[in-house]
Amino acid sequence: MPSISVMFVCLGNICRSPLAEALFRQKVNSRNLQDHFHIESSGTSNYHIGENADPRTIETAAGLGVSLDHSAQQLSVQHMNVFDYVIAMDESNFTNATKLDFNNTGLKLLKMRYFDPSLESETDDVPDPWFGGSEGFKEVHNILDRCTTAFLEHLIKEHHLI
Ligand code: 4NP
Repeated sequence: MPSISVMFVCLGNICRSPLAEALFRQKVNSRNLQDHFHIESSGTSNYHIGENADPRTIETAAGLGVSLDHSAQQLSVQHMNVFDYVIAMDESNFTNATKLDFNNTGLKLLKMRYFDPSLESETDDVPDPWFGGSEGFKEVHNILDRCTTAFLEHLIKEHHLI
């Protein structure tokens, strides 16, 4: 059983959190740390349960050499009770996660951009790219790339993985 479980959370679980999951998994694998991790993603809404990622997310992941075989799921109380880390993409995902009636014993509920080494904008949200064009997906990819790197470095130190 992997020792560290990580759940990435957005609204629909078809754009931001599947990309965060894919990027984080790729970095974990490239450091040969996969045996230490259980990694999933979910959405706070039920809008897209069972669907694959958005075609623009699939295209972005394909550019990284990752083929996404995704089935969207909704964040549940059970997830909140068993995962070690729940990483919310924006303030609204964070607030919705806190509204679930979970036992807050040891769970670390954090926002993704808490780990952003170059937070330049005044928001600490990963912006929702759903309504925009491919520019938004590029921006989300750039943000998630640096945040997932920093998050993994944080976990490596915190859990003495290397
Ligand atoms: P995500 O993006 O939360 O990053 O997966 C969205 C996907 C779908 C919707 C909103 C945001 N929607 O309203 O259906």
